[in-house]
Amino acid sequence: MLVNATNMLLKARDGHYAVGQFNINNLEWTKSILLTAQELNSPVILGVSEGAGKYMTGFKTVAAMVKAMDESLGITVPVALHLDHGTYEGAKACVAAGFTSIMFDGSHYDIEENVAKTTELVALAHDHGLSIEAEVGSIGGEEDGVIGMGEVADPEQCAKIASLGIDFLAAGIGNIHGKYPANWKGLDFDALDKIHAATNNIPLVLHGGTGIPEDMIRKAISLGVSKINVNTECQLSFADATRKYIEAGKDLQGKGFDPRKLLAPGAEAIKATVREKIELFGSANKA
Ligand code: 13P
Repeated sequence: MLVNATNMLLKARDGHYAVGQFNINNLEWTKSILLTAQELNSPVILGVSEGAGKYMTGFKTVAAMVKAMDESLGITVPVALHLDHGTYEGAKACVAAGFTSIMFDGSHYDIEENVAKTTELVALAHDHGLSIEAEVGSIGGEEDGVIGMGEVADPEQCAKIASLGIDFLAAGIGNIHGKYPANWKGLDFDALDKIHAATNNIPLVLHGGTGIPEDMIRKAISLGVSKINVNTECQLSFADATRKYIEAGKDLQGKGFDPRKLLAPGAEAIKATVREKIELFGSANKA
């Protein structure tokens, strides 16, 4: 059932668990995530980055595929189709394309411009029944082989953005996208505590879910995190399972080259990763 993400995240906040956002890249990704959420009776958020949207030939294609697949598979758990790290233009395009939720990432603008653009997009999203996430403090990650450490968001700026009517807030607390480097200092729980205290109990979002140790995930949830984004970890498990299939020479046996066979181990591996995360985040049986 396609819905916006507001209610599922308010329920998660009040129930002290988090809903997973799993990013999608294609049909196999979408199917694996939807089937696992349904099996575990968990709400779920499908994240689409602008790059992945382009790869799938556009946001309209993505919305049409997700809507049709949700119906064809008879999915009854709440599913939100969410733009991940949207630009101002991308956010508008996703509203028009039929997404149910958007993120506007204005963290690289100065705070005044972030406020102005977020305010405008809150009105647009809510007029169309979508939920909206905004961001303060950019999330680092690997770019051109260099790992940028994430910023730690300023609680006052978080309070300002949270007061604009957004439904959930991403705030940098030393989290980064992709694999964490060996010298990573861990999440800044002091900062998270201050941000939580300053933002009127708004559901908080933890980006960069890949590779964060389980005890840190549990602690973050206890401090107000209600949505956790996972992308790289599904890519790694898909690639690993696909490599093993090919290295074992299975694509050379019988019709092992058939994409429905070749991609099956990767699709199963995504399911296992999503299952593990849903269980860790505590959203199983919360649909
Ligand atoms: P990872 O790729 O590190 O899991 O981060 C995902 C994310 O935060 C998407 O916005």
